Amino acid sequence: MKTQVVIIGAGPSGLLLGQLLQHAGISNIILERQSPEYVLGRIRAGILESGTVDLLRKAGVSRRMDAEGLVHDGVEFLFNGKRYPIPLKKLSGKSVMVYGQTEVTRDLMAARNEEGGTTFYQTRNVEIHDLQETAARVDFEYHGEKYSVECEYVAGCDGFHGVSRQAIPKEILREYERVYPFGWLGMLSDTPPVNDELIYAHHDRGFVLCSQRSLTRSRYYLQVPLTENVDDWTDDRFWEELRRRLPDTLANKLQTGPSLEKSIAPLRSYVAEPMQYGRLFLVGDAAHIVPPTGAKGLNLAASDVNYLWRILCKVFHEGRTDLIPRYSELALRRVWKGERFSWFMTGLLHEFHDRDGFDQRIQQADREYYLSSEAGQTTIAENYVGLPFEPVE
Ligand code: FAD
Ligand code: PHB
Repeated sequence: MKTQVVIIGAGPSGLLLGQLLQHAGISNIILERQSPEYVLGRIRAGILESGTVDLLRKAGVSRRMDAEGLVHDGVEFLFNGKRYPIPLKKLSGKSVMVYGQTEVTRDLMAARNEEGGTTFYQTRNVEIHDLQETAARVDFEYHGEKYSVECEYVAGCDGFHGVSRQAIPKEILREYERVYPFGWLGMLSDTPPVNDELIYAHHDRGFVLCSQRSLTRSRYYLQVPLTENVDDWTDDRFWEELRRRLPDTLANKLQTGPSLEKSIAPLRSYVAEPMQYGRLFLVGDAAHIVPPTGAKGLNLAASDVNYLWRILCKVFHEGRTDLIPRYSELALRRVWKGERFSWFMTGLLHEFHDRDGFDQRIQQADREYYLSSEAGQTTIAENYVGLPFEPVE
């Protein structure tokens, strides 16, 4: 087989890149380790920045998102029992969209099916070769048969545990990491959200996020120690703990019901540099991870796709191979700002049991400053809705 771009991974970054390249007349094949049902069963991100929304519109997959997604012009913070609404639109000129990663992925899969894009699901043993040669090669197994694809470029969209990053020699790859001493226990339920806007709350018992997927489906998260086991959390225990961490005005409004999903995610900040090596580009979680507190994971994946798609269009249509090394530089500049914001939000809102008195007072002062000053709120707002993309030239 031969194609212009092999995309490894059919998560949001691989599928979105495939769709944009397809529309630009650039042939591509996607290789995915799991089945489509498995990929759709993973409950992950819920908030789209306005730049991500624009990119999904450019990719022609926005019909359902525009009809069913909820535009949020604000977000709320809560600490010491006091609520701080942040008017995102007023302060930054932009809004965010509540539309889950599962639905984005479903729309992208449907569009690829309709347009006849080639995707191999349930592949095994994907191997990347010849990244420094005149053509790259990707080998894989599919239903017990061995296949080989020759291509000009490889997009590594295969998440944190994929194979692409490992194709960059150890002496070239630099890694930066922070691991946090807690995780998030998430619960999805078909109950109306407790509040119109998302609420990020600090409580002495730990952080809480009240999020949502629609007017009838809620997503709640509780900060928990890494030693917690999800099987020890019955639905009743989850609702009870959530109530304890909310002020009475909200706790009394909380509508409970059976969970559709519960899981614990560890929190980590991670960046691998560079994001390009020879004919390989790393995209999304394959190159970087953020703690979910800033809602940046999926949005940074879309940010990388934005840069790579624009660069590949210029490479294939205008012969601009000089732009290839620019990918890493452009993508990383935005990634590090997303890393900074996610790290900052995590530090601001969580309970750190290992912090000494000084650090706790600084955290308290930070919360008071950022949430009660318009300048502080504007800083949060402009990062939350997403920083602008740089032009590719
Ligand atoms: P992924 O979605 O990880 O997709 C990578 C794909 O590559 C997968 O389908 C995988 O099966 C496939 N793959 C891996 N290895 C191979 C291989 N060798 N061969 C072929 N295919 C392969 N972000 C938020 O903003 N908010 C959240 O609440 C949130 N919660 C999260 C919870 C969890 C448990 C995780 C892991 C992430 C969460 N994120 C969240 C982050 C967000 O979901 C990711 O940033 C986003 O999924 C990145 O998309 P991606 O396409 O780059 O990677
Ligand atoms: C979610 O709805 O899953 C979600 C929303 C905002 C975040 C993280 C997760 O910051």
